[in-house]
Amino acid sequence: MAELGYLIAGNWKMNGLSGDAKALAAAVAAGAGAAPAGVDLLICPPAAHLALAGDAIAGTAVRLGGQDCHEAAGGAFTGDISAEMLKDLGCSHVIVGHSERRDGHAEGDALVWRKASAALRAGLIPIVCVGETEQERLSGKAEETVARQVRASVPDGADGTCLAVAYEPVWAIGSGRTPTNDEIAAVHKAMRAALVGLLGDAKGASVKLLYGGSVKPGNAKEILAIHNVNGALVGGASLKAADFLGIAAAAGA
Ligand code: 13P
Repeated sequence: MAELGYLIAGNWKMNGLSGDAKALAAAVAAGAGAAPAGVDLLICPPAAHLALAGDAIAGTAVRLGGQDCHEAAGGAFTGDISAEMLKDLGCSHVIVGHSERRDGHAEGDALVWRKASAALRAGLIPIVCVGETEQERLSGKAEETVARQVRASVPDGADGTCLAVAYEPVWAIGSGRTPTNDEIAAVHKAMRAALVGLLGDAKGASVKLLYGGSVKPGNAKEILAIHNVNGALVGGASLKAADFLGIAAAAGA
């Protein structure tokens, strides 16, 4: 077991209707007791299903998170959801800066920084996502890109009690492809160094660094054993409770 423990987070993205969400949350909750000590489970359902998923996991150790939040606490922002609303619904975490937001909704580092700051304001733990494109990896710029995104997206003053950072190579998301263990280790080392530069030694060392991108029960054990990997942000495999729980089991193996 790594020193910081592990966070295994399921990003359900825009999948499932209410019945699916209720069943999936209940199935995760039913299996959560078998998760190894030191492994925290988090589900991030679509906003529309947060309340019913929250009901399904009530009284268990499974935690609830949002997939995005607005930077403001409230106001005339049609279709958006504030960090305060997520907190009010029982969330402990919120994903910010996912590449599907950065690319699909033109969200840059400055906005991601403001969203992460909004999460801190509301008492939520932001999971700040960073990651290089395939082109950036091919041109040898993966570490540099990710370190730059960390420096520009992470609010200073945060520490591991109120912040997590996820490395999600854009080309590995939903593709079945993953970086090599050495490539993951190199990027996580660069992320750790960027956090230490930003937050100082102790705070920088205290932040959980998650890996995301085609994590499955079959590759979770080796990925989670990599130095500076303190959890996983799981997309597709989090939609099957058995797979998600299998990834959590691998964290303790
Ligand atoms: P996949 O696990 O489906 O590759 O998705 C990763 C992801 O984007 C999690 O946020």
